[in-house]
Amino acid sequence: MKIALNGPLPEDPVFHPNIRRAPRREGSLSEQERALALKNALRYIPEEHHEKMAPEFLAELDEHGKIYGYRFRPKGRIYGKPIDEYEGRCIEGKAMQVMIDNNLDEDVALYPYELVTYGETGSVCQNWMQYRLIKMYLERLTSTQTLVLFSGHPVGLFHSPESAPRVILTNGLLIGEYDNLDDFNRAWCMGCSSYGQMTAGGWMYIGPQGIVHGTYNTLLNAGRLKLGIPNDGNLAGRLFVSSGLGGMSGAQGKAVVIAGGVGVIAEVDASRIKTRHDQGWVNVVAKSCEEAFNLAQEALNKKEPLAVAFHGNIVDLLEYAIDHNIKIDLLSDQTSCHEAYTGGYCPQGLTFDMRTKMLDEDPGTFRTWVDRSLARHFEAVKTLTHRGTYFFDYGNSFMKAIFDSGIKEISRNGENDRDGFIWPSYVEDIMGPLLFDYGYGPFRWVCLSGEDEDLRITDQAAMSCIDPERRYQDRDNYNWIRDAEKNKLVVGTKARILYSDAFGRLAIALKFNELIREGKIGPIMIGRDHHDTGGTDAPFRETSNIRDGSNVTADMAVSVFAGNAARGMSLCALHNGGGTGIGKAVNGGFGCVLDGSERVDNILKNAVLWDVMAGVARRSWARNENAIETAMAYNQIMDGKDILTLPYISSDDLIERTLREA
Ligand SMILES: NC(=O)c1ccc[n+]([C@@H]2O[C@H](COP(=O)([O-])OP(=O)(O)OC[C@H]3O[C@@H](n4cnc5c(N)ncnc54)[C@H](O)[C@@H]3O)[C@@H](O)[C@H]2O)c1
Repeated sequence: MKIALNGPLPEDPVFHPNIRRAPRREGSLSEQERALALKNALRYIPEEHHEKMAPEFLAELDEHGKIYGYRFRPKGRIYGKPIDEYEGRCIEGKAMQVMIDNNLDEDVALYPYELVTYGETGSVCQNWMQYRLIKMYLERLTSTQTLVLFSGHPVGLFHSPESAPRVILTNGLLIGEYDNLDDFNRAWCMGCSSYGQMTAGGWMYIGPQGIVHGTYNTLLNAGRLKLGIPNDGNLAGRLFVSSGLGGMSGAQGKAVVIAGGVGVIAEVDASRIKTRHDQGWVNVVAKSCEEAFNLAQEALNKKEPLAVAFHGNIVDLLEYAIDHNIKIDLLSDQTSCHEAYTGGYCPQGLTFDMRTKMLDEDPGTFRTWVDRSLARHFEAVKTLTHRGTYFFDYGNSFMKAIFDSGIKEISRNGENDRDGFIWPSYVEDIMGPLLFDYGYGPFRWVCLSGEDEDLRITDQAAMSCIDPERRYQDRDNYNWIRDAEKNKLVVGTKARILYSDAFGRLAIALKFNELIREGKIGPIMIGRDHHDTGGTDAPFRETSNIRDGSNVTADMAVSVFAGNAARGMSLCALHNGGGTGIGKAVNGGFGCVLDGSERVDNILKNAVLWDVMAGVARRSWARNENAIETAMAYNQIMDGKDILTLPYISSDDLIERTLREA
């Protein structure tokens, strides 16, 4: 028995002119490697078509830097349909198809033709031949088989017990010596590796809603920490400035409005502004810096929330604010700096189209433009922070990109990046201590029926599992889910994000499974962003508030992935890179299909607490106070069923004296 792309070739590809296209990828392949890229792509194609496809693939490689196999993209719109419209032999096989198609929906994905969901390069898989094959396998998958994928390539189906995962996938993992961008790009362009980012390659992306909640939490807590806003207050009358209205960054306007503040977000690409404006995620579009800040000031005076999209470069916007003495309360950046030289960061002085052209024609010169712009950007942020603005790095490798461009001054020790950078990453100050250390993280679900009513019922059910009086974090989450429908957050499938801690997630998941059992709702896929308490080791982001020296290790992410697989989560994913770039993170995620069965109740009881508490255990061992408190409480509740190792805390005086007297 063989699963392969048989039959006649699909027709010539058709491209809709209004759909965004990825820039050319830079792989610098040698002649021998070009030959390998061709041979690799032809592995998916029956021999009788090689004569035709070899030159077509070569043309794609030369034009796009990578072979996408455009002709194999199914015709028409791809989107996450109701689960019953998919073929399959088990519910998980059908559910995964909903998730994949949602990740490639042109309303959801950044570059749908290139299979990129978000973050400039975060891909579902590498090419359309893989997409077709994956679907064929998922249609055939039974409840006693596991589909295994290596960087988007479906390796095959392997028999496994019913209690095993139905899909195990990895993306972009590299051998240490080759774990760098150049070697990755080469492997990527040869069709041997894929950049899964986080939920793109893990098929759990649910549109920018996924990050609205995290951004809302971050902004509110930044206000509490730095602007003196009380725990029950909001950002009314406060100005937030940032950049990017793309896949994830597109959440910023919506989040600041939900938090009650005013945001001005710079974006160089008019098409992305249009998408967010049409969705109502930004309220107004300004063509000049002056117009943007005037609109913002009016709203600030009235203490009304407003999201302004500024069509232009963030560096121009910041330099204008400096020259005109505009007070910015909170400042961040969400350009794709983790891919600064491959298109993620548009240098000052180039329009979006000019950036695409230069990247294509002269990537060497493009690098010098990026470096020059990052230097101006750095100076602008420095001036604003001296004037009292609170700047935080929002997990896009902004400060790392500045450091890599040669500006050592941005590192804390002035030499290397081991001790971090002069400004905090939002995880160091906010998300780490106030959320991850307690186990709060971006739990999410997708109503596989596609029914609005299912989403409404699950929102209510999730709300009933939160005690808003316990902590202010619970209050924020309660308010979030209470207003979620009103805030019109859904783009793509009927999905929801809700920050929640370990026991909260378990309670919600079990409640959903019960509702399915009672026939009140259809099946649900639960999961989370990889950007979480335990899923990701990333010293410049998720684990940047780990300060015991273990921030260079990736044991936690790998162990959480393995533990989730052992406990039977339906989909287990492990990736290199994530939001901070190749070699800078190892991150994992999961998906679990709820079908109302007792079997799934058992998976949830075994896996959900593990997934979160392994992360809390690591954070607690790193001596993070809130994590120690959470781990101690957990040990008490679990009463010997789970036992987390707790650290003894040494006195700083003792350490200092010991070293001094040695
Ligand atoms: N903090 C988090 O939780 C989190 C989550 C996801 C992604 N990220 C990171 O945030 C970054 C953005 O993610 P995304 O999915 O939105 O990527 P994206 O590539 O879809 O969007 C980035 C946007 O920035 C715009 N841009 C680039 N340079 C600009 C400039 N100089 N001025 C104005 N606009 C500019 C681009 O046109 C693009 O629309 C990535 O590095 C990603 O890894 C962070």
